Amino acid sequence: KKRVFSGIQPTNNVHLGNYLGAIRNWVETQDQYDNIFCIVDLHAITLPIDPKELHINTRKLAALYLACGLDTRYCKLFVQSHVRQHAEIQWLLNCYTPMGWLNRMTQFKTKAGEDMDSVGAGLYCYPVLMAGDILLYQTHYVPVGDDQRQHVEMTRDLAQRINSLYGKQIFTIPEAQIRTTGARIMSLEDPTKKMSKSDPNPNAYITLLDDPKTIKKKIARATTDSERLVKFDPARPGITNLLSIYQILTGQTQEVIEAEFEGKGYGDFKAALTDRLVETLSPIQQRYQEIISDMPALENLLKQGADDLRPLAERTTEKMKRAIGLG
Ligand code: TYM
Repeated sequence: KKRVFSGIQPTNNVHLGNYLGAIRNWVETQDQYDNIFCIVDLHAITLPIDPKELHINTRKLAALYLACGLDTRYCKLFVQSHVRQHAEIQWLLNCYTPMGWLNRMTQFKTKAGEDMDSVGAGLYCYPVLMAGDILLYQTHYVPVGDDQRQHVEMTRDLAQRINSLYGKQIFTIPEAQIRTTGARIMSLEDPTKKMSKSDPNPNAYITLLDDPKTIKKKIARATTDSERLVKFDPARPGITNLLSIYQILTGQTQEVIEAEFEGKGYGDFKAALTDRLVETLSPIQQRYQEIISDMPALENLLKQGADDLRPLAERTTEKMKRAIGLG
């Protein structure tokens, strides 16, 4: 089986974009691959984060992975910092990553914002840490949302560069898996921006743990337009974003959905979308509550995941060190 690797940062709340752009797709095809899903806590410290919050968010995210349907028969789940080789290989890879490549990363510019001089160097080197995650496990496919495309491309370039420099197949060349729908869920407040965990306005996103009342409220106030036409239309990003969410949740075509709401207004559509969201998220929330209430079992599962994965991470790191002349 081909290997799949992906991960999510344990910062703030996991939202509908993370679910539709990533987790849901992992679950859907998990039986076809040899899967590794990581809780990337080392990535989460690239911006300031409270230690207690980081600790609990790491466990919460693991519980959500399971609640969303990841099955340990097909997947290994683990916490990035539990396998030391992530930090080790990042240093090695850093030395082979041209600054020019990192300078081109758009996410760094967005996240650093005005603080270019005071932000930690970890944020700048973040794509290299991510490359290490993927390369350590000889990954074939990386299922992610559209915002991670550039990072996976850089990972490929870096792997090819090192393989050809030393004339050896040290790393498998990975490939991004990005769906055509759901890869870029937009903010509910400003549909020209992507839905983001770090959005200061909680009405901009729906978290996987929002209760039905909150979902209803957030969808009701989601930005649309004054045309009142329930149709996919790139010129009207608000309604189109909501329709795309509906499309993924129902599995229907655009034509069928447009026909369903012909002659109806935004109110009818938003009510239907709310129902679908509650229907999708309620069972996840129920399972989540069960899983999070047995912390020892969860801790044990994560420890097992790291123990199982460590040997491969060690092998890859050793391979690279030998090629370089270290060790
Ligand atoms: P993160 O934690 O920001 O996001 C996790 C996943 O959710 C996807 N995503 C979205 N998809 C659709 N619409 C959105 N609005 C949206 N927002 C986020 C992301 O594309 C991602 O798939 N650097 C990564 C984590 C990472 C990783 C890795 C991923 C670290 N190492 C190795 C894959 C492989 C990140 O910060 O994702």
